[in-house]
Amino acid sequence: MITVIGSANMDLVVGTENFPAQGETVLGNVFDTVPGGKGANQAIAAARLGSDIHMVCCVGDDMFGTSIVNNLQKNHVKSEGVGVVAAASGIANILLSEGDNRIIVVPGANSLLTTAHIDAVEDVIQKSKLVLIQLEIPIPTVTYTLQKCQELGIPVLLNPAPARGFQLDMMPFITYLTPNETECEQIFGMDMMEALEKYPNQLIVTLGSEGARYFDGEQHVIVECFKTKVVDTTGAGDTFNGALAHGIVAGMELERAVRFANAAASLSVEKFGAQGGMPACEEVEKRLQEASRLS
Ligand code: RIB
Repeated sequence: MITVIGSANMDLVVGTENFPAQGETVLGNVFDTVPGGKGANQAIAAARLGSDIHMVCCVGDDMFGTSIVNNLQKNHVKSEGVGVVAAASGIANILLSEGDNRIIVVPGANSLLTTAHIDAVEDVIQKSKLVLIQLEIPIPTVTYTLQKCQELGIPVLLNPAPARGFQLDMMPFITYLTPNETECEQIFGMDMMEALEKYPNQLIVTLGSEGARYFDGEQHVIVECFKTKVVDTTGAGDTFNGALAHGIVAGMELERAVRFANAAASLSVEKFGAQGGMPACEEVEKRLQEASRLS
């Protein structure tokens, strides 16, 4: 069982031919409202792959909050740890263009996820094989969770997104840290290769279309990405993290788990929305088999 502790948002997505320049107005070609949030996305990514997932988050007492919870349940994510608070649900304003995205998150209810919520789910954390957490919730809650997991002996996968608020003294509490290249630079303030060598088998850096890499204590391991037709990259990192958590808990070796996560992420970008393309386990295995036939 995996406990995911993090954000849940409603994504307000606008697609347009080109990103507007400052002060410019452009016409969009699509608008949709879809569930998102790094925590909920990672929970759903792992649940679609067959993991038993408990979600701990806060939503608002509004329409978005109700749809976020319904969506978690529809995707077989256990929602007893979801708090409904007197606030607006978190939203993300997502601009899609030129094969990429720009995102503004307004945390709303996510900023009311406190240490009291973590205490309330201590028995769930205790039964977990892994806790998966990100940084879209208050940093004191993250720090408290890391300490609790260490006390209980539960491994933690921390996806430092967004990187703001990450503190280097969190490292001894983290089993796996998965920044992208930019976040890695922001966190460690040193050359990526140097950081990788400092944290063998602990730091896994995602490189977008280049795949992911880590240092195994003797050599650098580069796990290549799968070429695919990109529709929407939103949630690709979340799919990677959910799938990595699933793979680790399923007992995969680290390199195999990273390859599995890359394959899942490559499938996720083929459809619209953060959660739209998140694959089932059979689809990931099929992609892995096709890739091994071609190599
Ligand atoms: O990682 C993508 C997610 O970031 C979106 O779903 C959005 O809600 C923001 O949290």
